[in-house]
Amino acid sequence: MEKITVNASRTYDILIGSGLLKDCGKYIREVSSAKKAAVVTDDNVDRLYSEKAVKSLESEGFTVVKFVFPHGEHSKSHETLLNLYEFLAENDITRTDLLIALGGGVVGDLTGFAAASFLRGVEFVQIPTSLLAQVDSSVGGKTAVNIRAGKNLVGAFNQPILVIADTDTLDTLTEEFFADGMGEVVKYGMIRSEKLFDLLMKGNAKTNIAEIIKQCVEIKRDVVQHDEHDTGERMILNFGHTLGHAIEKYYNYEGITHGNGVAIGMAVISGIAEKKGLVAKGVTEKLISCLKANGLPYQTEIPKEKLFELSLNDKKRASSKIRIVLCPEIGKWEIKTLTIDEYKDFLTK
Ligand SMILES: NC(=O)c1ccc[n+]([C@@H]2O[C@H](COP(=O)([O-])OP(=O)(O)OC[C@H]3O[C@@H](n4cnc5c(N)ncnc54)[C@H](O)[C@@H]3O)[C@@H](O)[C@H]2O)c1
Repeated sequence: MEKITVNASRTYDILIGSGLLKDCGKYIREVSSAKKAAVVTDDNVDRLYSEKAVKSLESEGFTVVKFVFPHGEHSKSHETLLNLYEFLAENDITRTDLLIALGGGVVGDLTGFAAASFLRGVEFVQIPTSLLAQVDSSVGGKTAVNIRAGKNLVGAFNQPILVIADTDTLDTLTEEFFADGMGEVVKYGMIRSEKLFDLLMKGNAKTNIAEIIKQCVEIKRDVVQHDEHDTGERMILNFGHTLGHAIEKYYNYEGITHGNGVAIGMAVISGIAEKKGLVAKGVTEKLISCLKANGLPYQTEIPKEKLFELSLNDKKRASSKIRIVLCPEIGKWEIKTLTIDEYKDFLTK
């Protein structure tokens, strides 16, 4: 088992390894004296993993209650959140009890926000079960729900007291969701680690997954420790996301996953920047090889003008300027601030 410690507004450990779920109660008991634990999960994950988690929690003396909601992004809503608050109240969850997010990023974001707001704050543990949640969303304390106006618009920074990433849970993930997480994994290599990138070039991520997750988590931990509240450097985690979100929006968030959008977004922005001499020669070709090796797409037929328009609504746009992340070399990042006109020229000329 690997243990990575995060020193943010709260200090907590991230445990990564095989077979951790069956002992989750023991690890949680080491950091919590709560009497009750409310396990929050979606229907897919509930079917696969709740029993194991609940058994382990009960064996450590936790009284367990369980809230299950339908899987999918549409559940990251105020409706689910309100139902969860009512459930917690009906089950007499107090401020000294504990919430446990068992699932992917949707479960983690929703539970983390409920934990930040219910009774003005209850501690919570993340047990991420998707690759995206293990390398990204369970680390760093961003929690949120969606509203009609957009994704993640209501949320809080709220660090968990522990993260337990059991890599065995990834065995049941669909290929689509595995590849989705790999988009973010390649991003970590691009922005911060040539060593990770080289490992990913081999294209057999599943055989090295614990090591890959560890390296991603260490990178995210370092970035979060420098900029927990996302006022500067944390933005580098958005490499490929400005165009990625535009591509997702173009397809109305259907038929393209977030990780695929990010993969294309990284390749397109890198290709444009390389032509303009802002990225070293050959970086984009290597990036594309790495994306291909991991079953990810790298090109789009969407016209550049359309990508420009769609990315302008992106929340990374600050007033009349837009900040974009480039990787001048593999493992190195740079943030460029452009006026909207400069950004249009950058993308389309
Ligand atoms: N908080 C952050 O910093 C942060 C960062 C990135 C993404 N996010 C958020 O994360 C969410 C996406 O996360 P996600 O991709 O994990 O989505 P998700 O939670 O919807 O999980 C994806 C699918 O996989 C299923 N699943 C999860 N674990 C499984 C397992 N072990 N076996 C079989 N099926 C499993 C789920 O039921 C779901 O159908 C988005 O809402 C996004 O905004 C948050």
